[in-house]
Amino acid sequence: MKAAIINQYGSPEVFQYVEVEKPQFSPKQLLVKVYCSSVNPIDWKIRKGMLKILTGNKFPMILGFDVAGEVVFIGSSVTRFKVGDAIYAQLDQRAFGTYAEYAAVSENIAAHKPENMTYEQAAAVPLAAMTALQALRDKGQLKTGHSVLINGASGGVGTFAVQIAKVLGATEITGVCSGQNSELVKSLGANRVIDYTQQDFTKENIKYDIVFDVVGNRSFSDCKRVLQPNGIYITTQPFPGNFLRSFLTSLLPGQKYKVILVQSNGSDLAYLKEQIEEGKIRAFIDRVYPLSFIAAAHIYSETERATGKVVITNVVS
Ligand SMILES: NC(=O)c1ccc[n+]([C@@H]2O[C@H](COP(=O)([O-])OP(=O)(O)OC[C@H]3O[C@@H](n4cnc5c(N)ncnc54)[C@H](OP(=O)(O)O)[C@@H]3O)[C@@H](O)[C@H]2O)c1
Repeated sequence: MKAAIINQYGSPEVFQYVEVEKPQFSPKQLLVKVYCSSVNPIDWKIRKGMLKILTGNKFPMILGFDVAGEVVFIGSSVTRFKVGDAIYAQLDQRAFGTYAEYAAVSENIAAHKPENMTYEQAAAVPLAAMTALQALRDKGQLKTGHSVLINGASGGVGTFAVQIAKVLGATEITGVCSGQNSELVKSLGANRVIDYTQQDFTKENIKYDIVFDVVGNRSFSDCKRVLQPNGIYITTQPFPGNFLRSFLTSLLPGQKYKVILVQSNGSDLAYLKEQIEEGKIRAFIDRVYPLSFIAAAHIYSETERATGKVVITNVVS
């Protein structure tokens, strides 16, 4: 099969689009023909060697977490899927590799693809939307009537976070992005949009139940003054010091600091499928690249200015 592999950490030029063996799959896994994948910032962080401590030095390595595709073989213990099913999934942190024509996907982390989405749209969903869902529902304990601020509302995670906050019952949703993305963020359900180039949300006299710092560029101390007395700040940046801060605030009453680390989860994807089919959540795609142009897709994602998602297709041209 064709795959984009890396044989060393480094710049986007380390990608090679070559022929490799199809992946092995276990009795509990599906072999999936990958129609589309997507780029998440963790992909280029791994490529650069920033997460070497977790990813090790075993090359060649195939990057990529998101997959939307068709089941072509099933392991002997698989019960929920059959050959021919259209599925989507986010692979596990220890077994990624969707920048390829085929991927081995564990049954428990897959769900049927939303019927009203193309493969391109479905591939945009798993990692970004589950990050938003698990952050707001599990870390933020978002309840009906809550007021939520999303810093980075126009990016891959942020575009889903605005919509998911609404689905979970938030009544006031404030999105922070650059002025050019303001209309998009409003169209996704934000009641108010703050242009970070003009205004600093931490200096306002408004209090939120949840501040979801998707960009992860604001400190807890800056955000404390715009959090309710029992408000929750959530960051996407899993640095050791952030986990320590999270532990310390868990011991004390009052405002909490939490870190989201997205988990692959088939049930969450099944829940998102329902919301998508009811028209409550949609994927916003900025650019689509063929897998053979994965280096260009990474260069674009690394600008940290993508609006919504960068999707990869496997349609061989
Ligand atoms: N811990 C986890 O489980 C987890 C999971 C997913 C993602 N993450 C992390 O979360 C971060 C965001 O991921 P993503 O997929 O959403 O990235 P992304 O799609 O690359 O985010 C791009 C967006 O960030 C916005 N942005 C850039 N600078 C900003 C600023 N100063 N203030 C507000 N918005 C700003 C941009 O908005 P404008 O173009 O409007 O400026 C753009 O729309 C990454 O660091 C990623 O690694 C962590």
